[in-house]
Amino acid sequence: MKSSFAFLLLMSGMVTNIEPTPEALLYPYGLDQGDRKNPKLDDGTSKRLPLSVPFTFYGKEYRTLYVNNNGVISFDTQVKQYTPDPFPLADGRPFVTPYWGDVDNVLGGEIYYRQTTDPALLKLITQNINQYFPSIPFTATWAFVATWDHVAYYGSTSNKGNTFQATLTTNTNTSFIILNYKDIQWTTGVASGGDPKTGLGGTPAHAGFNSGDETNYYNIPGSRTEAVINITKTSNVNVPGRWVFQVDNEVIGETTEKPPTDKRCWL
Ligand SMILES: *[C@@H]1O[C@H](CO)[C@@H](O)[C@H](O)[C@H]1NC(C)=O
Ligand SMILES: *[C@@H]1O[C@H](CO)[C@@H](O)[C@H](O)[C@H]1NC(C)=O
Repeated sequence: MKSSFAFLLLMSGMVTNIEPTPEALLYPYGLDQGDRKNPKLDDGTSKRLPLSVPFTFYGKEYRTLYVNNNGVISFDTQVKQYTPDPFPLADGRPFVTPYWGDVDNVLGGEIYYRQTTDPALLKLITQNINQYFPSIPFTATWAFVATWDHVAYYGSTSNKGNTFQATLTTNTNTSFIILNYKDIQWTTGVASGGDPKTGLGGTPAHAGFNSGDETNYYNIPGSRTEAVINITKTSNVNVPGRWVFQVDNEVIGETTEKPPTDKRCWL
């Protein structure tokens, strides 16, 4: 119902040019935005990236992170692991995990990242957070945007590619993560039991975050099941394909296995 209404809005916008067009799901990315790219390397990672503003993730301040090809942003240590584990992780590694699976950017796609204080982007992120969390005063002063653009899976014999993005943002004492899923075509690399032709089966990809304290974590519904292919249609903020979490500290009364807001929506 909602998507056909949005479709009607889009159609009338195209005809009359009066209705606003729906906002793009992904924040701008690419070399023309000042992004850097990860090297083409199976299970590769970025360098250790120093942050110009510390990012508070469940009570701990982190000053460096890695963008890991296999769909993980990690603090402190690189991640080469390609078959995902559910959260909480036994070893307590702090992860922000838009789509943890066996990406192979040698076979296809690019992984971009930048940290930014671009006023236009910070304004858009601030508007989004204020809309989703109206009771939390927030004006973004910094953001980190990592984008996986049409990335292939390990062992692929297809042209399938996944496009998704993770954004970290803060005003120095309140922080959020925004996970955006534009196009998900595969769930599993062949070393995780996936089919080389379809990229399906085996142990599918995992999405969410792991604070490292064994109490605060979130597994987005469908993670490590075949249903994760539909993550482009689910949301906790009423925007299909977008999941947003406040992550600076324990959110009172909302910890394990529950979203920080009560706005989960299945479309
Ligand atoms: C940090 O949090 C306090 C409340 O705990 C708030 O008064 C202050 O404005 C916040 N700082 C920023 C930069 O938003
Ligand atoms: C994905 O969603 C569609 C409906 O939109 C459903 O028919 C299909 O079974 C779902 N796929 C999985 C693997 O759950």
